[in-house]
Amino acid sequence: MGLTASLAAVSLGEGSTPLVAAGRLSAATGFDLHLKCDGVNPTGSFKDRGMVVAVGRAAESGARAVVCASTGNTAASAAAYAARAGLPAIVLTPAGAIATAKRAQALAAGAQLLEVRGTFDDALRLCRELGARPGYVLVNSINPDRIEGQKSVVFEILEQLGTVPEIIALPFGGGGNVTAVAAGLHEAGVSCRIVVGEAAERATTWASAIRIAEPAHAAHVAELVASGRVEVVTLSEDEIRAAWRRLAMEEGVFCEPASAAGFAALLRSGAGSGSKQPIVCILTGHGLKDPGALEAADEGTVVEATLDAVLEAVG
Ligand code: F0G
Repeated sequence: MGLTASLAAVSLGEGSTPLVAAGRLSAATGFDLHLKCDGVNPTGSFKDRGMVVAVGRAAESGARAVVCASTGNTAASAAAYAARAGLPAIVLTPAGAIATAKRAQALAAGAQLLEVRGTFDDALRLCRELGARPGYVLVNSINPDRIEGQKSVVFEILEQLGTVPEIIALPFGGGGNVTAVAAGLHEAGVSCRIVVGEAAERATTWASAIRIAEPAHAAHVAELVASGRVEVVTLSEDEIRAAWRRLAMEEGVFCEPASAAGFAALLRSGAGSGSKQPIVCILTGHGLKDPGALEAADEGTVVEATLDAVLEAVG
């Protein structure tokens, strides 16, 4: 993506993430599945694509600080780009409800982290209010600069695949990313189905990144659904967890729990099964973002430091 000089100065090299052919999962599911590994972005999530634009433009406009509400990834990304732009970042998160690594990222980059006794939705309401005050720029995805940057994932997919996929699948939290993907396809002048996965248990889901009861882009997503461009699949906790494990265990691609919602949605809807056309699943965040999720996985095996003990353990 071409950036203006001032945005290039803030860039951390976001985008150009790998598109990986998922051979084993394709054989098992009947899809021709490709994984867009957006957890490989500088702060470990797709948020960086839009944040470089939003923070860069905030700096250009003489902002006093950037503000955001976050389940963790937006906070980590805003903090990093604000540090690079020399701007203060104020990030509001639901207290005690975000992954430790994301909290650490925001603090390491010097953001002011305010842990709100409330939900993500409470934090977003407060940020909208703060962002309306002079000098504060809101960098959640209701800021159109975020959407502008996030569209780049579509252009990359088209270039890397060399063709238009039949389906692009992704998670649906607040709905900013599905909005960006739809806008990117429109801008590229191509059409493809968009399948998104949301947690049935929105307010409490194990996939903490999408623990959002009231999606900010709900009305727009409803319009996209009504126009037939987007299909929303509502997922159980077990479906999200199973999809997350399969991506790691069958393809070696370790994403964070929320990121598996697109793949889970594909599995449930069966959309594209048996099709010859490629299907792209956007994996929005890196597995290392949320190592706590691994507590749900099998534990390692402790052995004595002898070959006998190792041989016994491997069977
Ligand atoms: N995947 C990950 C890893 C996320 O962090 C998010 C959102 C989503 C998917 C959903 O994207 O909201 O555009 O539909 N995370 C936000 C945050 C809420 O604060 O980091 P969406």
